[in-house]
Amino acid sequence: MNVLLLGSGGREHALAWKLAQSPRLSKLFAAPGNPGIAAHAALVEVDPANHDGVIAFCRENAIGLVVVGPEAPLVDGLGNALRAVGIPVFGPDQAAAQLEGSKGFTKDLCQRAGIPTAGYLRAQSREDALAALPGFGLPVVIKADGLAAGKGVIIAETAAEAEAAVNEMFEGAFGAAGASVVIEEFMTGEEASFFALCDGKTVLPFGSAQDHKRVGEGDTGPNTGGMGAYSPARVLTAELQQRVMDEIITPTARTMAAEGTPYSGVFFAGLMLTAEGPKLIEYNARFGDPECQVLMTRLDEDLLDLLLATAEGRLEGHTPPKMRDEVTLTVVMAANGYPGTPEKGGAIGNIEAAEVDGAKVFHAGTALKDGVLVANGGRVLNVTATGANVTAAQAGAYRAVDAINFATGFCRRDIGWREVERERG
Ligand code: AMP
Ligand code: GLY
Repeated sequence: MNVLLLGSGGREHALAWKLAQSPRLSKLFAAPGNPGIAAHAALVEVDPANHDGVIAFCRENAIGLVVVGPEAPLVDGLGNALRAVGIPVFGPDQAAAQLEGSKGFTKDLCQRAGIPTAGYLRAQSREDALAALPGFGLPVVIKADGLAAGKGVIIAETAAEAEAAVNEMFEGAFGAAGASVVIEEFMTGEEASFFALCDGKTVLPFGSAQDHKRVGEGDTGPNTGGMGAYSPARVLTAELQQRVMDEIITPTARTMAAEGTPYSGVFFAGLMLTAEGPKLIEYNARFGDPECQVLMTRLDEDLLDLLLATAEGRLEGHTPPKMRDEVTLTVVMAANGYPGTPEKGGAIGNIEAAEVDGAKVFHAGTALKDGVLVANGGRVLNVTATGANVTAAQAGAYRAVDAINFATGFCRRDIGWREVERERG
């Protein structure tokens, strides 16, 4: 079978690497891809915003499955366009992708379905938002409703900060995404991510991970897309995972199906493990980046089979995907300046020397310039290793990081710190 993979980051490199191991794969195409993905796929120019163009490409190249990496094409309705002409696609339709595309949509759905999450209020105007603030304690969380590249969340410690955040959003700091806001009660606890496949009806747990969102060591500094992750997240015990399935994932799938917007793809649930139990922070309608890299490295099954069964509504009776027992950890190497303006064009060398003892380097923002691999984005490489526990996987990942030459890049040196501390006992 021929497959078209959309996207260009480390997430898509991990998906391409895993898809390429499938005996069912004939030819993999990736648009636009990156130099790492090029080892597994033919890179092609297909604009995901041009739905007719994607369909024409699929027909010309006998594509049997389209795998959508990032959220934007899903929120833009590419899933609907492909399904309408009978091309299987991994990723939800537009209405179901609102789970990521509109934070207010998700909060309202949680309320209807009785799913545990932070108390909230939606506001469509600055006046309504300012009037609602005194009803919340401090800190309070202010969120732009729409897609804001992970940046539309402000945790305000004081009333003045909260008012400033509201003003900023309605003045357009996050563009159209901030034309409507969600005000939320602040939850405390440890964060973890949980993934589940859903084919519209049936849900299958797909493992857990923990990301590190802040740019600086000790979880300090500005938020990023994620500086490193590991899987599994042992804080999500088997018992807690069952609660997440029963109290969050299954009711979400059931409610969406009952309301005529069945969800097909992967649920990426951001969770807060509070004293009262796991609560939903937010949903994403795609795999996490870099969480996908650690999930794919642990997956002990044919990814193509799984994604196709999801796309074709055949998950019923399927056992949950098998994951290897070991821990996988990935360290993001970013270009200097990230998450602000990253320095482009810095040379990267010695990747092959880093890929020993099972270590794997996924490309994110890289490019080939005159035959030299260079940085071409904020997050540049995802250096991934496996071990019996987080401590061992972390040691392997940093050995690989230290073998790489990337003078204009940096990484956090403490990925996995919470778990390393726990393992030390
Ligand atoms: P989100 O983009 O919704 O995942 O939010 C980004 C980050 O903000 C999350 O990973 C949390 O660390 C934090 N956050 C969001 N909502 C809340 C909340 N209600 N209480 C506490 N922290 C939150
Ligand atoms: N790493 C967080 C995300 O993919 O949204």
